[in-house]
This record gives sequence, structure tokens and C-alpha cells, in this order.
Amino acid sequence: TGYITMDPGFGNTGSCTSAITFMDGEKGILRYRGIPVEQLAEHSSFVETAYLLINGRLPNKQELTRTSVQLNDDSLIHEDMQIFYQNFPRRAHPMGILSAMINALRSFYPELEDTDPEGINRTFLRLLSKIRTMAAMSYRISRGHKVVYPRADYSYCANFLNMMFHSPVRPYELDPDIVEALNVFWILHADHEQNCSTAAVRVVGSGRVNLYAAISAGIAALWGPLHGGANQAVIEMLTNIHKSGADIEDVVRRAKDKDDPFRLMGFGHRVYKTYDPRARIMKKMCDTVLPKLKVEDPLLDIARRLEEVALTDPYFIDKNLYPNVDFYSGIVLRAMGIPTEMFTVMFAIGRLPGWISQWKEGADDPNWKISRPRQVYTGNIATDYVPINKR
Ligand code: CMC
Repeated sequence: TGYITMDPGFGNTGSCTSAITFMDGEKGILRYRGIPVEQLAEHSSFVETAYLLINGRLPNKQELTRTSVQLNDDSLIHEDMQIFYQNFPRRAHPMGILSAMINALRSFYPELEDTDPEGINRTFLRLLSKIRTMAAMSYRISRGHKVVYPRADYSYCANFLNMMFHSPVRPYELDPDIVEALNVFWILHADHEQNCSTAAVRVVGSGRVNLYAAISAGIAALWGPLHGGANQAVIEMLTNIHKSGADIEDVVRRAKDKDDPFRLMGFGHRVYKTYDPRARIMKKMCDTVLPKLKVEDPLLDIARRLEEVALTDPYFIDKNLYPNVDFYSGIVLRAMGIPTEMFTVMFAIGRLPGWISQWKEGADDPNWKISRPRQVYTGNIATDYVPINKR
């Protein structure tokens, strides 16, 4: 079978060409379709950024309005899906529910749409719209609360917050600062080239499975604590430090100890060998959003102190380990009232435009090859079957 090059974890393997997201890990640069993420965070909306990623350019006014209207029109979930929700155990993790429900969504739409360009475009918008309704629904049902339906007069982000937090006894008052914080949070998560979950979407999609199934695989991949699940793991780590009163220097010492499996969650990155540009914005957001919301979070002080100690430690300096997007994002989400178990779901909603655009890029390529890595076999070359009474 010839010569096989080993590259565990694909640290040095390019799997595709792509015109979607540019990253320079040495300089800490991230651009979507050439536009710096900092500019998008300042001026764009999540819906506009999603359009940019999927279509390759910014929409004009008419296109943006049409997209927003379509997102509102698509936002309801088939009533039969509520029955699925009701039957998950109360403590089921919302990421497991979301992945299953996105896959289940496939059954409600005609298969014909998979091959028709107009149908595929409809599927993109449908997924973008419904993932938000489904995420909010899974939270409401897990709390035993009645589902809140989407409203056509609300923007994408406002609608999500309302579906999460509105209550008949205490109507949810939309705070423009929270809506904007959510908008920026989702823009920062919108794409990140060939990360674990996007690679999963491409690999699964390369077998020509439908988009719902490919996205469902992406959500499953994102769930892991080394990937999107890190935002939940960071808050759990900071909470543990807070509750136990552990010394920050000791925590950093543990993270360096090779005999201790503990790692500093929210630190390190495969590509960034400098400060993650998303983390920089997220950290700044903590400084503006928390005071605006009059939230004082002791976890923010712990995070700042951890960063300070780690970034002056030769271990972290030599290995180029800096805070990544997940280090400060949970603190912003907490301030917004998002419960910890929903953090990775928030990441998934944000990453959806990236998954869709990366899948589309593959599907539009006439030479899209099925992903099929090779291996180096290390087992028995040949051995005889032994009947059960002789073993
Ligand atoms: N704490 C302590 N040591 C670390 C950490 C950390 N967070 N991250 C990496 N290292 C060490 C690691 O032990 C290794 O040391 P050595 O060379 O002596 O064996 C070295 O740094 C390189 O690490 P690696 O695991 O080989 O690097 P990787 O590129 O395979 O993994 C990573 C990248 C993000 C999985 C890893 O840095 C990590 O586990 N970080 C914590 C989890 C986390 O924050 N994940 C979120 C990533 S960013 C957003 C996202 O993808 O969702």
C-alpha cells in the first residue's frame, strides 16, 4: 500500500483549500472573507456575518432584509418535535439534545431539497433560524418551563434572549447592551477554518450525507472539553478555585505538572502561538459589559489573576500558551444570565454559519473527495481462528 506519512491530530496536514477564513497563528490574525474579525465585531451583525461567510461577500440592504425576514419566517419548530423534547431526561446535556434534534429535523423536510440549489439555500436559513429556537426550547424544557415562541418583530439575537428568558410573571426586558454583547459573541465564534468540529462537518459531509446530519456531527464534535466544551470547563475550573479558595500559583503549578492530568482550561491553541484575537475582544467585553450590567463576578478577578500568573511563567511562555476564546467568554455569558450548561450550545449557534459555509465550499467543489485517512497497522499480521472450547 506504499508509504504512509503519519500526522496524528493533523497538526501539519492540509485537508482542503478554502477561501473562507484566514488565520495567522503567529501574529494572532483572524479574518472572515478577508475582513478582520475586529471590524466585524465593531460594525456588523451576526446575521450579516453569517451571510458574508456563506455567500462570500457582504449583503446589500435588500439582501440583508430578505435574509432577516426569512430567518423570522423559518423560526418555528414543527409542533411534533416538542414531543421529542419532552422525553429527554431532565438532566440531559443540551449539546446532546441539540445534536440529536438537528439530525431529527432532517425527517421533517423533503429529501429532494438536498440536490436542488434553491432547496440547499433554504436549508441554510432554516438551520440558522431553527437552531436558535431549538436551543432556547431545550433550556426551557430542561427547567420545566413553558416554551416561548419566536417573535417576528425581534432581531436574531433579541429573539433568542426573549425565548430564553421571557416569563408571564416577569416579562423579559431587552437590554440593548446584552443584545449587542450576544451579537459580538456570536460573530467571534462564526468560523475558525479547519477546527475539530468543522473538520468533522467536512469529513462527514464528504460521504455526501445530508447537511443536517453533517451539522449534527459538528455539534457532537464541538461538545468536547478540548474544543467548544472548554467554555463550560473554564467556568467550572474558576468556580472550583473560588469555592476551594485555592492558591492561583498552585493551580498554575498543577497545570504544568505532567503527572497531573489537570490543564488550564481556556489556555493554548493548535494554531495561535500568541494571544487569541477573539480572547482579546472577549476580555475587553468583560470590562465593559459587566459594569454596564452592574455585575460583579469574583470569577473575573480569578481569571485575570490566572492569566497574569500563567503569562509570566516560563512554562507557558516557552510553549506559547495564551488565553483562547473560551477563557473569558463564559464570564460574559454568565453576566448575560446564560446558564453554564448552555455555554457550548451558544458556541454551536455561533459556529453554524462557519459549518454551513465550509460544507458548501466542499459541496461546490466538483472534485470533493471522500475523506478517508490511512493508518499504520500495529496489530497481528495473521493468526488462526481458535474455536471457543480451545481458548
Ligand atoms: N495547560 C497546560 N499545558 C498545556 C495546555 C494547557 N491548557 N495546553 C497545552 N499544554 C502543553 C501540553 O501539555 C504540551 O506540552 P508538552 O509539549 O510538554 O507535551 C504543549 O503544551 C502542547 O500542547 P498540545 O496538547 O500538544 O497542543 P495541541 O495543539 O494538540 O492542543 C489544545 C491544543 C487547545 C487542545 C490544548 O492547548 C488544550 O488542551 N487546551 C485546554 C483546552 C482548551 O482551552 N480548549 C479550547 C481551544 S480554543 C477554542 C476551541 O477550539 O473551542
